Order: sequence, then C-alpha cells, then structure tokens
Amino acid sequence: MEYAVTTSDLTRTFGSFVAVDRLNLNIKPGEIYGFIGPNGAGKSTAIRMLCGILEPTSGTGSVLGYDLNRETEEIKKRIGYMSQKFSLYDDLTVVENLNFYAGLYSVPRRELKERVREMVAMAGLTERENELTVNLSGGWKQRLALGCAIISRPAIVFLDEPTSGVSPISRRMFFKIIQRMAAAGTTVMVTTHFMDEAEYCDKIAFISAGRLMAVNTPDNLKKNVIDGHLVELELPDAMNRLDDIESLPYVKECTVHGPLLHVLLENESQRLALMAFTGVEPQPITPSLEDVFIALAKRKGDNPAFLSS
Ligand SMILES: Nc1ncnc2c1ncn2[C@@H]1O[C@H](COP(=O)(O)OP(=O)(O)OP(=O)(O)O)[C@@H](O)[C@H]1O
Ligand SMILES: [Mg+2]
Repeated sequence: MEYAVTTSDLTRTFGSFVAVDRLNLNIKPGEIYGFIGPNGAGKSTAIRMLCGILEPTSGTGSVLGYDLNRETEEIKKRIGYMSQKFSLYDDLTVVENLNFYAGLYSVPRRELKERVREMVAMAGLTERENELTVNLSGGWKQRLALGCAIISRPAIVFLDEPTSGVSPISRRMFFKIIQRMAAAGTTVMVTTHFMDEAEYCDKIAFISAGRLMAVNTPDNLKKNVIDGHLVELELPDAMNRLDDIESLPYVKECTVHGPLLHVLLENESQRLALMAFTGVEPQPITPSLEDVFIALAKRKGDNPAFLSS
C-alpha cells in the first residue's frame, strides 16, 4: 500500500456552504501528518470524512486501502479516532474506560489485559488505574483518551486537536508518544493550532476556507511559501509604527511578534530604504511556521502555494 490515505477532490457541503472543497491528500504509512488552518477551515469535517463517519458530498478516496464512499464500516473498524470533543466516561475508572473502548473496537479477549496495561503505561497512569476519570487533570485525561483511541492498535490514528487546553509539558509528553507511535509504523494525522507541534510533523497540510493551500515538510514551507524578503526589526515603539511601515509601497506585510516586527519586503534591496525610514537595521530572518501560517491564511483560493506529495 503506497498511501495510508489518499483522496481525490474530496468535498463536503452543508446546504450551500462548502466546508471542504476538492481536497487532494496523499499520506504515506508511518507519517506524522499535520493538518493546520484557521478556525472553521474544514479540518474536523475532513477528518470525519476520512474516519468514515461523515459522508462526502462528492469526490473519492481511500483509507488503508478501503473506499471512503463504499467501505466505511471497514474503515471504522481499523482506525483510531480522537475527536475534538473526545468522550471519556467520567464515572468510570481509567481501566474501565479502556475496557469499554477495547470492547467497542473488538479487541480479542485474551489480549485485553496486556493491551490495557500497555495503554495505562503509555498514559503514565500506572498506579492510578482504578481512579475515577473525573479526578484526572486535563493532561492525563487527554492521554487516556489517546489510549482509548489506539487500544485496538490501529494502523492509522486521527487526532483532532488532541492537545487543546493542556499545559506545555503535557503537550510535549503527548507528542513524544505520537512520535514513538509513528516510529513503530503507525500513521498519525493530527490537527493543531500550536506551531511548535506543527514542527514535529513530517508533513503539514495547510487548509483555509475548505481549500488545501500548501503541503510540504515544515522546513520546505518555511523556505518556499513566503514570496519576498523577510526581515526583523527591533523598534521600541513597534505598535505605533506598524501602520506607517505597512503603508510603505515596498512593504508587503508587517506583523508584531512580541517586541519585534516582522516585515515582508518585495526584495532584499529594499532593506536600506526600510533602514532609512525606521532608523533601525533590519535583520534578514528565516520565516517561522507562524509567518507561513499568516501568509497562507491571507491568500485566496485557487492558488495553491507549494504543493508536493
Ligand atoms: N454539521 C454541520 N452543519 C453545518 N455546518 C457545519 C457542520 N459541521 C461543520 N460545519 C461548518 O463547516 C465549517 C468547517 O468546520 P470544521 O469544524 O471542519 O472546521 P475546523 O477547521 O475543524 O475548525 P476549528 O479549528 O475551529 O476546529 C465551519 O464553518 C462549520 O461551521
Ligand atoms: Mg475542528
């Protein structure tokens, strides 16, 4: 199987609203594939179609070789899915939740004990197995939810904003687990609004208003999406100078990053002009993923920036 997921013009509408617009994806087995984009971009809708729980309006595709339109039961059996509003049973214990999901996914009885033990260890919940889920804090709940989603050892797991609302340390732990899973061959599709997490992905697909705007490695996105010369300025009154700088004819974009301004020039030769205007020497910088994100989110449809499989 060349691709764990492949789609061709996958589309979903709600009434006249197009939530996912002719999406073409190719995800290789074992990849950590990040799905990034603004709120309402269509990420969750796309994932729900890939999980076989939302019917596409048009287009085709396959997950683990099974057809997205005709074989959704096969798909549902074989994947793991942690939805944006994942549901654990608060009044069940850690082990009871795992047992419940193991039953749902038909984990063989003789393997049950071992699998539950494995997931408890993965979630860092050893010795808290019999605690009620309601008593777990956010980060542990999230890892337990992941355990429930992968207790069947799926070849692919879809994680929809799995780390929203948890601390940076928990987020990092969570991504370590994801990296380990991927290294062991599991394909991981994950959505996130955190750029540090996007950096961990092998590939990032950027989606905006239902359209795929770019797909590539984090490094290649940083190198190739931004059209122009990006510089950083350290100006004491950055916020007050923002409008003036943005209205310069050769400035394409100007954004605030803490105490710094990122200014996108048309080309390198305009650095001197910017220096004369601001009195500060602009330092050339490599765009961050956040710069890429902002640039892509501003772009309008029909102009995919940097697509590669
Ligand atoms: N069942 C539905 N009925 C009508 N509109 C819907 C439905 N589900 C989603 N939408 C709309 O489709 C668009 C895409 O929603 P979706 O949840 O896929 O976005 P998202 O990229 O996951 O956003 P977020 O980052 O906020 O989770 C939104 O405008 C949403 O309101
Ligand atoms: Mg969503």
